[in-house]
Amino acid sequence: MAGAHLHVFPDARRFGRSLQRATGLAVSAVRLHTFPDGETLVRVDHPRGADAVLVRSLHDPNAKLLEVLCAADALRRAGARRVTLVAPYLPYMRQDRVFSAGEPNSQRVVGALLGGAFDRLLTVEAHLHRIQRLAEVVPGARARSLCAAPALAEWLAARRRDTLLVGPDAESAPWVRALARRVAMPWIVGAKVRRGDRRVEVRLPALPAVRRAVLIDDIASSGATLAAAARALHRAGIGRIDAIVVHALIQPAALARLQRAGVRRLLSCDTVPHPSNAISVAPLLAAALAGHR
Ligand code: R5P
Repeated sequence: MAGAHLHVFPDARRFGRSLQRATGLAVSAVRLHTFPDGETLVRVDHPRGADAVLVRSLHDPNAKLLEVLCAADALRRAGARRVTLVAPYLPYMRQDRVFSAGEPNSQRVVGALLGGAFDRLLTVEAHLHRIQRLAEVVPGARARSLCAAPALAEWLAARRRDTLLVGPDAESAPWVRALARRVAMPWIVGAKVRRGDRRVEVRLPALPAVRRAVLIDDIASSGATLAAAARALHRAGIGRIDAIVVHALIQPAALARLQRAGVRRLLSCDTVPHPSNAISVAPLLAAALAGHR
């Protein structure tokens, strides 16, 4: 995407700097003004005719979604040829079907809004369980969810080979397996039963003879999944337990819950700003941007 221009929201400055370093693209700040009635005015400065890349992670999403839609409109009116959204975290992907009567399919609602506003959408490890590809739920845009495994593998490569990689549930199996193959480490996945927003049980299969484990999951939200898996590992005699997640949505205050369950440290990718950020996905997104035509 030579000649494209990055537009970074104020709450994405840190990630924007990483992406700017990784891409070498010019960058401008998106400006926001909040009116007394609570509405927001979005302003962009765009060099006419260039492609635009809007950068914002969409955790805590409701207001942010509307603002990125307005920014896409502003960029087109300012003469952007193509408008791409780089959203390292893409929300509303978990409600991908009507679980109980009277609920929406939020994934389709959000996908349709973004597909109507952007030419392309890049994200990382979108929570896709019952569909194969992000493009299926973002009609009208070229949408891609990048696999975080290369970034996680780079971090794990420096660890001991006898570290057990543990996915807490069957849904995590494909990418824990892919990651384990990359770094030649043993792996298992547990069986999870969710009994409420913050009540989770995890059962593990028989473990190989190891003394250290790294829990791997795409999201930590309440932290209940990681805590339950850590307790199961602890019961099975594993003394050194770390956890890595792609998207750290967990409130820093809930980290104590993980510590109580035996997690020594939580590390995360920088898709959501968080004290646990340790692994950057900016190089992955930069490579995907460079590969886009
Ligand atoms: C579920 O399918 C996801 O992969 C995560 O395991 C889940 O979102 C974690 O949520 P929490 O931290 O609230 O248990």
